[in-house]
Amino acid sequence: MNTQKLKVVLTVKLPDAVETRMRELFNTTLWLFMTPMPPDRVLEVARDTDVLVTSINDRIDADFFANCGDRLKMIANFGVGHDHIDIAAATEKGIMVTNTPGVLTEDTAEMTMGLILAVSRRFVEGAELVQNGEFSAWSPTFMLGRRIFGKRLGIIGMGRIGQALARRAKAFGMSVHYHNRKPVSARISDELGATYWDDLDQMLSRMDVVSINAPGGTGTQHMLNADRLARLQPHAILVNTARGQIVDEQALAAMLRNNRIAGVGLDVYEREPAINPELIGLPNAILLPHMASSTIEARQDMGDRVILNIKTHQDGHRPPDRVIPAML
Ligand code: DGY
Repeated sequence: MNTQKLKVVLTVKLPDAVETRMRELFNTTLWLFMTPMPPDRVLEVARDTDVLVTSINDRIDADFFANCGDRLKMIANFGVGHDHIDIAAATEKGIMVTNTPGVLTEDTAEMTMGLILAVSRRFVEGAELVQNGEFSAWSPTFMLGRRIFGKRLGIIGMGRIGQALARRAKAFGMSVHYHNRKPVSARISDELGATYWDDLDQMLSRMDVVSINAPGGTGTQHMLNADRLARLQPHAILVNTARGQIVDEQALAAMLRNNRIAGVGLDVYEREPAINPELIGLPNAILLPHMASSTIEARQDMGDRVILNIKTHQDGHRPPDRVIPAML
């Protein structure tokens, strides 16, 4: 790609410092609205740019690639998850796709640990009660939650974020269990004192807390279906900061309503940003608006990765965060 002519279009509002640097380096068109760029506009701008900077809000599917023309050379996604991009279709068209791994690991793990604590110890219910002027007296039987010290945490997906969560959970006195396609290395397993379950059903039925930290996409769609959810113990809590599609939300809502599990902490949803109405208003559900990686630090670092990926591609090198390494 030619340095002078490299055109970059953003489909999403990024932090000012990131946008400013992108304007210095590239012929960058910003998207200055907090709402995502409409899909037909995304397709339109894609036809006349070298690089498209996308986010989870965009549906970059086979239809997109069939209609985006021949100019587009790269999709630099602002985010680590790429289940909204049809990687096979991109590969077929020779379009480079990059993401932003690593730089939001600690933030997401922090939020996941926070949700485990918040659900177990009823942070939101307590805070609302005080805000509503309903705190009349301390009582030994008032606002009882469940201790997490000494409890078993089952992590589904032991990648970077799963491991970062495991370190935190261990520090809180939890014992770490996990389900993954394969066991982690002996060094990591020893460090975390982690127990591996190849059989997810078995792990689910034995845990006090379950956290989903697996990637989204067709491979994990409804991995926690109604049958699997039914394996959870009635006192168990479930936390999901990964992707909503991994859980059958309708089945989960029914379980919560029937007190078949103790509580959930959700940051992601099956039809995001739409929230299943069955989940609304439940005292045992803490619902967050997909904010697990929302720190000032992570957003800046993610922007830096996007810039680095575009710049290295522009300079004829292999971008560090290629989602399709086999392409180069
Ligand atoms: C990620 O990086 O995947 C976050 O979920 C935001 O898309």
